[in-house]
Amino acid sequence: MAENSKFDETPRITVDYMRGILLPTATCDAWDLIWNFQAKPDDLLISTYPKAGTTWTQEIVDLIQNEGDVEMSKRAPTHIRFPVIEWIMPSVGSGLEQANAMPSPRNLKTHLPIELLPPSFLENNCKIIYVARNAKDNMVSYYHFQRMNKGLPDPGTWEEYFENFLAGKVCWGSWHDHVKGWWKAKDQHNILYLFYEEMKKNPKQEIQKLAEFIGKKLDDNVLDTIVHHTSFDVMKQNPMANYSSLPTEFMNHAISPFMRKGTVGDWKHHFTVAQNERFNEDYKKKMADTSLAFHFQF
Ligand code: A3P
Repeated sequence: MAENSKFDETPRITVDYMRGILLPTATCDAWDLIWNFQAKPDDLLISTYPKAGTTWTQEIVDLIQNEGDVEMSKRAPTHIRFPVIEWIMPSVGSGLEQANAMPSPRNLKTHLPIELLPPSFLENNCKIIYVARNAKDNMVSYYHFQRMNKGLPDPGTWEEYFENFLAGKVCWGSWHDHVKGWWKAKDQHNILYLFYEEMKKNPKQEIQKLAEFIGKKLDDNVLDTIVHHTSFDVMKQNPMANYSSLPTEFMNHAISPFMRKGTVGDWKHHFTVAQNERFNEDYKKKMADTSLAFHFQF
């Protein structure tokens, strides 16, 4: 109860538009510094729309780099091992400062749409891993995350959230534009584009793809160790991967745990029939101009 009241007393962040994309006000205020961030050629960036499986991918990447050394991956919480370049939280710190102080080779994270990515990442041909998740599950996951996270605005009711999500009026903008923008960029740049659903269906195969992209050759038993250690059930119990190390006034896992369900198709428990029809109609229009639509099945 005490934890709930501390959370209740903590104010929500405010948000603003940066070039048409809704972002935390603190990110907008620091925009010049973020935009001019100097990426280095050996930086590795994980980019996602929020709630697409970022933390899962981060854990896999860290274990690949450390050849399946599980203790090594527990050296620090995810947000310390992978600073978020645009993330500034008064009680937690600035991802930008963290990144600037970090020795190379650095692992970094962003949720920025490609048009807001600091140009030095592409200029330096940095390796970038992008993970996309089907929009319906992504929306549900984001809704619950906003409920438990004071670092984002109050999501309102599910009905309100549903409309705001379709309108792209959520932090980091429209899901459709985000996944399409990075998809378009992947052929011109050093980008590995992965899908949450494929990672669920065949984790070993997707981990192998990641290892190849990172440039690591791993034995089969190491791959199996990584599959096991990055399964939902194991990560849920890992305090260095489940965000339980953040102050409870900021993230309240009693409202909705960060490691919530980790499944494909949870949207079916949230969407009404009318919402599903409305979503599908809108989706058809927004995804008509991309080959990407083929990769998502509902
Ligand atoms: P749900 O809310 O649907 O459970 P992100 O890391 O981008 O914030 O994404 C969080 C989502 O990924 C949450 O989805 C979380 O449960 C899920 N997730 C985290 N680790 C996972 C894992 N090892 N396997 C499957 N899903 C995982």
